Amino acid sequence: MNNNLFLHNGFNKKQTPFYYYDVKCLIDTLTLMNQKLEPYPNFHVHYALKANANLRILSLINSYISGVDCVSGGEIRAAIEAGFDPSDIVFAGVGKADWEIKYALECGIYCFNVESEEELEVINSLAAQWNLVAKVALRINPDVGAHTNANIATGLAENKFGISMQHMDAVIDKAFILDHVKFIGLHFHIGSQILEMNDFVALCNRINELQDRLEAHHINIEYINVGGGLGIDYDDPLQHPFPDFESYFSTYNKFLKVHPYQTVHFELGRSIVGQCGDLISRVLYVKKGMNKQFAILDAGMTDLIRPALYHAHHYIENISSELPEELYDVVGPVCESSDVFGKDIRLNWVERGDFIAIESAGAYGESMASCYNCRPLPKSYLSCDFDNE
Ligand code: LLP
Repeated sequence: MNNNLFLHNGFNKKQTPFYYYDVKCLIDTLTLMNQKLEPYPNFHVHYALKANANLRILSLINSYISGVDCVSGGEIRAAIEAGFDPSDIVFAGVGKADWEIKYALECGIYCFNVESEEELEVINSLAAQWNLVAKVALRINPDVGAHTNANIATGLAENKFGISMQHMDAVIDKAFILDHVKFIGLHFHIGSQILEMNDFVALCNRINELQDRLEAHHINIEYINVGGGLGIDYDDPLQHPFPDFESYFSTYNKFLKVHPYQTVHFELGRSIVGQCGDLISRVLYVKKGMNKQFAILDAGMTDLIRPALYHAHHYIENISSELPEELYDVVGPVCESSDVFGKDIRLNWVERGDFIAIESAGAYGESMASCYNCRPLPKSYLSCDFDNE
């Protein structure tokens, strides 16, 4: 996301649609995050790789953040390929397949975030085959809501994620009995795109409660992973290109009870990469409807599925025109009525061939792209690729 996309002549030479990543925006975001982390030496960030797994982006992130959060064997492979050290990988996911667990053990990852008693037993038995001891944190479902889209809230009892608070003690007891797992702590994640700090306060209160309960049984944990979830401004990315890392970390510092021997881990995805990426497309046709007009793009839900899947809002701009504004429904070419990026969007007068930027698409954009309708996956470029154009 940036203000001078309009000036990029280099776009003309590229096949659209493509993802455009603004390296300066990404570096500024990472620098700001590290700056806001500095006062808290026991806080550690793991980049949630699911948000964007583009190898060039990953390598860049790796020069600012050492930790990474993966949710599949493929993500572990991508993290290692990008330069992350296996000993800084945490591996979450409600359904880890045996091959993924074996692969993670073989790589020597830091910790498994375990989501059920059965998974704990499987990890134990696979680790036993190689006479290893796997470090595990138990992901607890804290039954804490979040002010976000229901599809991306994860911390309620009705969600499939984590071990329920009622079963927590039994699963911890089990972990102590098993020889090939070492219980190190607890993991949580209440959802994504959260802008209300009070939601994180509610999570802190719950974690404090659970810690008190464990300490009463003389169980001390060294590792607390609070997940990710910090949101970004999709409505006005030009005014607010950076997430509020300061409030986020200071909220945890203020409300979470942390002993000196404990480390607190965060799994941030969207807040790191969300604002640095735009989806760039060309207008194929402008079609008059009964009471509206459609700007039909060559990008569709296969390239950026968030609007179709969650009715997510992205700021859209015609970066080829400064003519007066009109209202358009901005749609893709895919054979689905939900292939819509936005309705009644105010855009500078649109003509065939204009470039349209769909902003704040760096997180869960390229990583969720598909080949539906046998469409090719979108390409991607970094801003530095255009430096000499
Ligand atoms: N940790 C866990 C266990 C998670 O499940 C997630 C995201 C994260 C960390 C990173 O959360 P973030 O900091 O990015 O909010 N595709 C959806 C978002 C799904 C999020 C899934 N889990 C979207 O496009 O909004």
